[in-house]
Amino acid sequence: MLATLLLCSALAGMTNAYAFPDCVNGPLAKTLVCNTSASPTARAKALISMFTTAELINNTDNASGGVPRLGLPAYNWWSEALHGVASSPGVTFAPKGQDFSFATSFPGPILMSAAFDDELIKEVATVISTEARAFNNVGRAGLDFFTPNINPFRDPRWGRGQETPGEDPFHVSQYVFNLIDGLQGGIDPEMFKVAADCKHFAGYDIENWQGNDRTSFNAIISTQDLSSYYLPPFQSCVRDAHVASVMCSYNAVNGIPSCADTYLLQTILRDYWGFNNERWVTSDCDAIANFIDHKFSPDLPHAAATGLKAGTDVDCGSTFGNNLQQALDMSLVTKADIQTALERQYASLIRLGYFNPAASQPYRQISWNDVNTPAAQSLAHTAAVEGLTLLKNTGALPFSKSIKSLALIGPWADATTQMQGNYEGIAPFLISPFAAAQAAGFETTLTAGTGINSNDDSGFAAAIAAARAADAVVFAGGIDNSIEAEGRDRDTIVWPGNQLDLISQLAAVGKPLVVLQFGGGQVDDAALKSNPNVSAILHGGYPGQQGGTAVMDVLSGKVSPAGRLPVTQYPASYVDAVPMTDMSLASSSSNPGRTYKWYTGTPTYEFGTGLSFTTFNLALQGAKTSYSIQSLVSVGRAAGGPLDLAPFDTFNVAVHNTGKVASDFVVLGFVKTTAGPAPFPNKELVSYSRVKSVGAGQTVSAKLAVTLGSIARVGEDGSATLYPGEYTLLLDVPTGLTHSFRLTGTQEQITHWPAPPS
Ligand SMILES: *[C@@H]1O[C@H](CO)[C@@H](O)[C@H](O)[C@H]1NC(C)=O
Ligand SMILES: *[C@@H]1O[C@H](CO)[C@@H](O)[C@H](O)[C@H]1NC(C)=O
Ligand SMILES: *[C@@H]1O[C@H](CO)[C@@H](O)[C@H](O)[C@H]1NC(C)=O
Ligand SMILES: *[C@@H]1O[C@H](CO)[C@@H](O)[C@H](O)[C@H]1NC(C)=O
Repeated sequence: MLATLLLCSALAGMTNAYAFPDCVNGPLAKTLVCNTSASPTARAKALISMFTTAELINNTDNASGGVPRLGLPAYNWWSEALHGVASSPGVTFAPKGQDFSFATSFPGPILMSAAFDDELIKEVATVISTEARAFNNVGRAGLDFFTPNINPFRDPRWGRGQETPGEDPFHVSQYVFNLIDGLQGGIDPEMFKVAADCKHFAGYDIENWQGNDRTSFNAIISTQDLSSYYLPPFQSCVRDAHVASVMCSYNAVNGIPSCADTYLLQTILRDYWGFNNERWVTSDCDAIANFIDHKFSPDLPHAAATGLKAGTDVDCGSTFGNNLQQALDMSLVTKADIQTALERQYASLIRLGYFNPAASQPYRQISWNDVNTPAAQSLAHTAAVEGLTLLKNTGALPFSKSIKSLALIGPWADATTQMQGNYEGIAPFLISPFAAAQAAGFETTLTAGTGINSNDDSGFAAAIAAARAADAVVFAGGIDNSIEAEGRDRDTIVWPGNQLDLISQLAAVGKPLVVLQFGGGQVDDAALKSNPNVSAILHGGYPGQQGGTAVMDVLSGKVSPAGRLPVTQYPASYVDAVPMTDMSLASSSSNPGRTYKWYTGTPTYEFGTGLSFTTFNLALQGAKTSYSIQSLVSVGRAAGGPLDLAPFDTFNVAVHNTGKVASDFVVLGFVKTTAGPAPFPNKELVSYSRVKSVGAGQTVSAKLAVTLGSIARVGEDGSATLYPGEYTLLLDVPTGLTHSFRLTGTQEQITHWPAPPS
C-alpha cells in the first residue's frame, strides 16, 4: 500500500512530505509500538526507549527527523487549518488543475462566530478534518494542525483578531468546544481524526504596537482577569474538549515568557486542567529563542533547557535541535526530560492511528473525492450567510423588485482571495460580490473608486457617474490584510484612506446606498450610521469562497440576515483612551473599560447588534424567580464533573416572528448583578441559541442553558463563588426583555483557582 503510494507520487512528479511507519513489515511491526491493544502511553514509551540521544534530539523540533533505522518517518508537526486546510510548512497543495490543488475555504472565524451557531461550527470543523485526512493520506498535510486561535479579541487594534471568535470569553469557549469536537472527531475519542492545537497560551493579543513587539512584550495580567477573561477559552479547549495540543505564546505573562512558565504549563494546564501525557505543548515558532529577547535566558542552551523543563515539548523552531546536546553536556537537562517530551508527542501520534496498519484505520479511506464536495460548498455558503451582520437598514434592504441595476464600487467590490483573510488555503473558486451580483441577474457595473488605504481621489468621478447611472449603489470596503495582519496592529480604527469621503459623495447622489463593511477588526461606522442617505450597513468579515453569493442572497432578500456582532464597535476615539499594552479589563482613571462587559462609553455598535428583515417578540416561559445556592451546589456535586459546568437553569424563550418574512434569530442571554465583589461588569453573556427559519407569524421555543459558572463571580484570587443577591437576565441586544431572580442561602465557592507563585 505504502509502496504503491510512493510510486504513484513519484510518477506524478511530487515528493511526499509524509509517510506512515510500516506496522506490518517494518522494523517496528513486531514491537509494542505497533500493538494497537496496548495503551498509547505504553506504546510511546516503548518507541522512545529505542532512541539514542542523538535520535531524541533529532525529533524535538517542528520538523522531526524521524529515526531511519527504525523505519520511523520524518514528520512535520506544523500544519494549519484555521478555516479550511491552509498553506503552511506542513501542507503542500498540488499544482493547479491536479487533485489536491485546493480545499474548501470557509469564512474566517470572526464571521463564523457572528452566526452564534455552535452546530454550524462543529459541522464546519468536521468537513475541515475530513479534508485534512484526505491531504494527509497522500502525504500533503500532517495530522497536527496549529489551530484554533482563541485569545479573546480584547483590543480592536489587534492584527489577528480576525482569527478569533470575538471578544466574549463565554462565546469563544463554546465556539472552541464545538470546533475541537469536529476537528478531533469527538470529545476525547479513542482515535483522533486530526489533532488540534489551542493557541496562544496565554495573554497573547499584541503583534507590534508602537514598538511593543510580541516577541518581547510582557503582559501584566491580574489573577482575576486571567481566570475570568484570558483563560476560559483554554479551559474549555483543554479540560472540556480534550484538545491534543496547546501552543505557548511569544509574550511573557507577569515577567515570565509563556513557554518557560511552569505556573501556566504545569500548575494550570497539566495539574488543574488535566492535560495528560498523551498531549503536548508546542512553542510558538521561535518562541524559545525569544527568551533571549525577553532577557530571560543568557544563551540558547539555557533557553532550550528552560523551555523543555517548564513543559514545552515541541520547539517550533530549531533551538531545541541545535542546543539540547549542549544543554545535556552542561547538565541543564536530563535525557529523561527529552524522553518525556517525545513520549507525549508520539503518544498523540499513536492516538491519531499513525502506527495502525492501514487496513484497520478508518480515516485512511478518505480521499480526494471527499474534498470540496457539494455538501462542503453548500456549508461554506451557509456559514457565510449565517455570519453576515446587518448593522443598519433604513428600509432599502432587501432591494425591491424595481432595483434592476447596481453600481458595485469600492476596494472589496471584486474581492476574491481578499475574502479568505489570513491562514488561508487555496480555494476551489472565489465568488466576488461583483460576480455574484451579475449571477443574481442585476445589470452591474464595477468601479473601484479608491483603494483600501489610498488618498488618491482620481477614481471618485467615475464612481459617482456609475452611481448616478444605477438604480442602487453597493459600496464594498473596510479593511483587509494589508491593514490588519499577523505582526501588525492598527493605530487607528477610523475607516482607512479616503473611503469615507467617497461614501459620503456617493450618499449625496441620493440613490439607495448599501455599505458592505469587510475585514476582521471593526472600523468606526459613526459617520455612516448618522448619514440618512446611507441606507444599510452589512458587516461581512472575511466571508470565504462563497462570500459574494452570500452577500447577494441578503441584498436580494433571498434570505434574512441574523448574524450578531461578536465584538464591540468602538468610536474612533477609543484608541486614544487606553494603550493597547494595558491588559486590564475593568474601567479606571486610565482605561474606559474593555469589551461590552466593562466599556463605560457609548459604542458605535454594541456587541450583539444585528438586524433582520423581520421583527421578533420574545417571551419567557415558566422562569423561576428564586434559587437556593445550597441546593444548586448539592445537585451539581451529585452529578459529578466540574461544578462550574453544572446546570443553573434552562430558560425557555418563546421566539415569535411578528413580521412578514421567515428568518433565523439569535437569542442572546446576559446576566447582570451587584452581588459579590466589585467591580461589576455591565452585563455578561451566559447563553445563546440560534433558532432557524422561524416563519412569519410562527413561534418557536429556544432553550437557553445556563451553568453555575456563568452565574458565579470570579474574585481576586481567580476562584468563582455563587453569591446570594439580586440578578437580572437580559435578553437580546438591545435588551428586549428582562427577568429578575434571586439567589438565596449563603455564598459558596465553586472553583479553586491555583494560586500563582508568590
Ligand atoms: C499487545 O498488548 C496487549 C496489552 O498490553 C497484550 O495483552 C498483548 O499480549 C500484546 N500483543 C502482542 C502480540 O504483543
Ligand atoms: C535526523 O533526521 C534526518 C532526517 O530524517 C536523518 O537523515 C538523520 O539520519 C537523522 N539523524 C539521526 C542521528 O538519526
Ligand atoms: C520549522 O519552524 C521554523 C521556525 O519558525 C520555520 O522557520 C521552518 O520553516 C519550519 N520547518 C518546517 C520544515 O516546517
Ligand atoms: C441625500 O440625498 C439627497 C438627494 O436625494 C440630497 O439632496 C442630500 O443632500 C443627501 N444628503 C446627504 C447627507 O448626503
